[in-house]
Amino acid sequence: MKILVTGGLGYIGSHVTVLLLEQNIEVLCVDNLDNSRLEVLDGINKITSKSPLFKNLDIKDKVELESLFKEHDDIQAIIHFAAHKSLTESLEKPLNYYNNNIVGLLNILNFSVEKDIPFIYSSSCTVYGDVKVSPINEENATNDPKSPYGNTKLIGEQILKDCFNASDKFKTIILRYFNPIGAHPSGYIGEYPLGTPQNLIPYLTQTVIGKHPFLRVFGSDYETEDGTCIRDYIHVMDLAKAHIESINYLISFKNKKMCEILNVGTGKGYSVLEVIKIFEKVTGEKVPFKVVGPREGDVPIAFADVKKIYTKMGWKTKFTLEDGLKSAWNWEKHLVKKF
Ligand code: NAD
Ligand code: WQD
Repeated sequence: MKILVTGGLGYIGSHVTVLLLEQNIEVLCVDNLDNSRLEVLDGINKITSKSPLFKNLDIKDKVELESLFKEHDDIQAIIHFAAHKSLTESLEKPLNYYNNNIVGLLNILNFSVEKDIPFIYSSSCTVYGDVKVSPINEENATNDPKSPYGNTKLIGEQILKDCFNASDKFKTIILRYFNPIGAHPSGYIGEYPLGTPQNLIPYLTQTVIGKHPFLRVFGSDYETEDGTCIRDYIHVMDLAKAHIESINYLISFKNKKMCEILNVGTGKGYSVLEVIKIFEKVTGEKVPFKVVGPREGDVPIAFADVKKIYTKMGWKTKFTLEDGLKSAWNWEKHLVKKF
């Protein structure tokens, strides 16, 4: 079996590539290295003793894609990660985000629809926008995602639903990730944040390693037990496994069209202060932090209802928040030795 993984050298794509190779699946990775490094291939090889086929390609380039699909006419599924993903950058460069994330998606999707190749799409909890109640299930209304990035994810979902409605055989699974964290337990692959990270965990680990004087805790007057926001932190290895289960699920549905939207989270929320406490406990490191004002656009509480993905695919998490934080720290130490 051969699977095309777009954005396969990125944070989540590289972990999925490892799991696919470990299942003896042939992986064709395409990535333009816009937010990743070629040496991710070494990390993948160190873990699996195997290598994916790799093509440095921008998915906005239709001509290049045409020859890729000609050369590989045996692709059996597509996992589509390639996109820009920074909320704040998208506010500064909206056209760049719409261009990359929507044009890229349309280009790949054309081949999926034309050649009848099942399609797995990386969506995000950001599509729920300003949520009032958690756990959030998939029937929850999607709302203004508040950033061009979030809009691209929601528009992407709509495009896939339209393709499904227009077809009698299109198969797609839309995975709405909550807050992915952590790294492969080996420490050979993980997330390379571009510039200063905005997400909590990479900022926290960079602070502890000494790159920032302190972690800013955004807000302490939210209506939560300790006043800080609550999120659903999903270990990247569990998230990667959800893609393997999705492939299995798609394959088991022969000759039927499908459009499933599934949350991928743990179903449990932790506050920012709880995350700091657990990090300190599992690593023995002190986290210097200061409480500052709230960050615009943050909702107080967001965690997933994960009943649907469990019922449909039997997927559930194996790793704990402790595991995620330990592996994130392990990866940060690996990065500091390297760069
Ligand atoms: P990432 O930036 O680490 O990986 C994306 C990869 O896609 C990068 O290697 C980048 O070089 C590549 N890429 C981008 N545009 C491309 C193009 N035009 N052509 C070819 N390659 C291109 O991001 P990630 O965290 O692994 O996220 C993967 C997907 O999951 C994205 O679609 C993102 O929107 C979605 N997602 C991520 C998170 C998160 O917090 N990490 C949460 C929800 C959803
Ligand atoms: C988590 C919590 C912050 C940084 C984002 C996107 C979402 C998805 C995942 C892509 C919040 C607090 C953070 C810091 C802090 N990405 N925080 N100090 O905002 O829940 O989700 O990433 O699709 O769509 O919105 O994640 O990691 O930025 O924040 O106190 O320096 O940590 O206020 O409560 P978020 P996050």
